[in-house]
Amino acid sequence: MRATEGTQGHSGTLEQAGVYVSHDGAVRLEPPAPMSDGVIVLRRSEERDVPLIADASHDPEARKWLDDEPLTAERQRDLVLRAGERWRAGRAAPFVIADATTDVALGLVNVQFDDDAVAGLAVSVFPEARGRGVAPRALRLAGKWALELGLQRVYAEAAAENVASIRAIEKAGFRREGLLRDHCETHGRRHDCVMFSIVPSNLADD
Ligand SMILES: CC(C)(COP(=O)(O)OP(=O)(O)OC[C@H]1O[C@@H](n2cnc3c(N)ncnc32)[C@H](O)[C@@H]1OP(=O)(O)O)[C@@H](O)C(=O)NCCC(=O)NCCS
Repeated sequence: MRATEGTQGHSGTLEQAGVYVSHDGAVRLEPPAPMSDGVIVLRRSEERDVPLIADASHDPEARKWLDDEPLTAERQRDLVLRAGERWRAGRAAPFVIADATTDVALGLVNVQFDDDAVAGLAVSVFPEARGRGVAPRALRLAGKWALELGLQRVYAEAAAENVASIRAIEKAGFRREGLLRDHCETHGRRHDCVMFSIVPSNLADD
């Protein structure tokens, strides 16, 4: 599955929609102020998150389902910098999921802009924070933010065997669209995955 780190690039219509702002001639995706539902907060990564993100990058469960690699010492050093570059490139919005009370990082959620109208979400929750609804909350907040930017479709895919991920996406309120045969690739292996989405009309469901 796509990595929570995302990729770089640039998308044009979001710029026209005023999502991007221009600084020094460069076009950037303006990170929003931290977004919270009272239990978790989505915010940009900070240096103090790096040890937690690095530890979690070795978790076998996350490695099984995501293409993220364990963070080398070198990649730990420039993690916050790289996240900033991805924001500026404008194709991805990499958020840290943090506890709304303590602000301690609990996981990662990435919004990856496929094109001008569609984005995909990828989420991972650190092992010690699993099983208490963190991912559904993060998916809901990130999905709502992306739709409010003007996107027409926000999707989330889960490997057909990834029961925890399917449950988390369902609990976030995403609609199940169906099973896509060999649609996803993780660690070079193609596999079936379940496709979910939300569209602007779902914003009224909240
Ligand atoms: C999938 C994942 C993001 C879910 O996050 P979460 O915050 O634990 O989500 P929830 O608390 O809503 O739990 C979802 C399901 O996980 C399972 N679960 C419950 N407790 C758990 C625990 N302690 N550890 C692992 N899974 C647990 C249950 O099936 C639960 O569904 P239920 O509520 O119907 O019982 C998280 O398990 C994870 O990071 N996994 C590794 C990376 C991954 O698979 N990412 C998704 C790729 S598409």
